[in-house]
Amino acid sequence: MLRVAIVGATGYTGCELLDILIGHPEVKITSLTAKLDAPIKIHDEFPRFKGRIDLPCTPLDAGEVARSSDLIFLSLPHGVSMKYAALFLKAGKKVIDLSADFRFADVGVFQQWYGIRHEQTGLLKEAVYGLPELHAERIRTARLIANPGCYPTGSILALAPLVKERVVELDGLVIDSKSGVTGAGRKASLPLSFGECNESFRAYKVGAHQHTPEIESELGILAGHALAIQFTPHLVPMNRGILTTAYARPLKETSTEEIINLYGRFYAKAPFVRVAAKGRLADTKDVWGLNYCDISIVVDNRTHRIVVISAIDNLVKGAAGQAVQNMNLMSGFPETMGLA
Ligand SMILES: NC(=O)c1ccc[n+]([C@@H]2O[C@H](COP(=O)([O-])OP(=O)(O)OC[C@H]3O[C@@H](n4cnc5c(N)ncnc54)[C@H](OP(=O)(O)O)[C@@H]3O)[C@@H](O)[C@H]2O)c1
Repeated sequence: MLRVAIVGATGYTGCELLDILIGHPEVKITSLTAKLDAPIKIHDEFPRFKGRIDLPCTPLDAGEVARSSDLIFLSLPHGVSMKYAALFLKAGKKVIDLSADFRFADVGVFQQWYGIRHEQTGLLKEAVYGLPELHAERIRTARLIANPGCYPTGSILALAPLVKERVVELDGLVIDSKSGVTGAGRKASLPLSFGECNESFRAYKVGAHQHTPEIESELGILAGHALAIQFTPHLVPMNRGILTTAYARPLKETSTEEIINLYGRFYAKAPFVRVAAKGRLADTKDVWGLNYCDISIVVDNRTHRIVVISAIDNLVKGAAGQAVQNMNLMSGFPETMGLA
């Protein structure tokens, strides 16, 4: 059994990880920690775990976490993860970091978009971007995984086949994404309180969202050169889910059937990407609590655009589920174990 720790177990992604890992046949959860003054029972924080796991959640003691586990999930805020990742790697452990701390090879990009000084730059080269649909082989042998952001997961999977196969114009890509409120984490925040966001639907950080360079960087790798992409995020008054609509101009006339076939081939070996049949449109309801990314395609020859719609659960394929998918690959387990 793989001994696994969750650091940041009182947050949304930590809770989701625990939910998934309790049912994983090859995992023994050995440590739950958070920023606490004293130990708590995890079911006092999340009653859903009562009778399912009997492990306290304790104040984070890195030495103790390293002693008790082989692989550590860091469900921590940006800027906090980097220090712990370095400590755990030094202790010979594998680390899957859900924050953005190791998602950029270029430290300047991270520092510019996150406004945080990176203190573990030596690890940036080693970290593998944990999107299994694009990097499975490197993930298998990695010690440090930078688990992708939620918006980038839905956006990159929506556009990767078009960019990689050179089917569309690469300047002028537009991505419009809508996320549920859990995407911002569990800590209290006035704009995210019920009274502020219920019955409201708003764009935010237009042209300035920190997930933009992550999307540009991964799609840029597929394109073979740097890309500038218009990414607009929105907050929707629902708990979970991200619906992404991407717009691209085809280089030559094509059809919905042709592009659906292209996606089918591109994701033929990706167990968690489901390409919809013509006429069906992706819906966040269909992936709620699941590790799937559903993708729909419409070619609009009137406007000369390919419209790709993807749906994920931000806490599952956009975070914890994808992290477990990465753990499976790193540990030699079937990719879908504990997730399908
Ligand atoms: N939410 C999503 O949909 C999503 C998707 C993809 C990636 N992510 C990323 O995943 C990470 C976790 O997100 P989240 O939504 O789970 O956040 P969250 O709900 O705010 O939880 C953060 C967790 O980190 C702990 N923590 C904070 N500062 C700490 C410190 N200095 N030392 C030890 N523990 C500390 C918190 O403990 P206390 O409760 O004790 O303060 C809590 O358990 C973030 O980097 C986020 O950007 C989130």
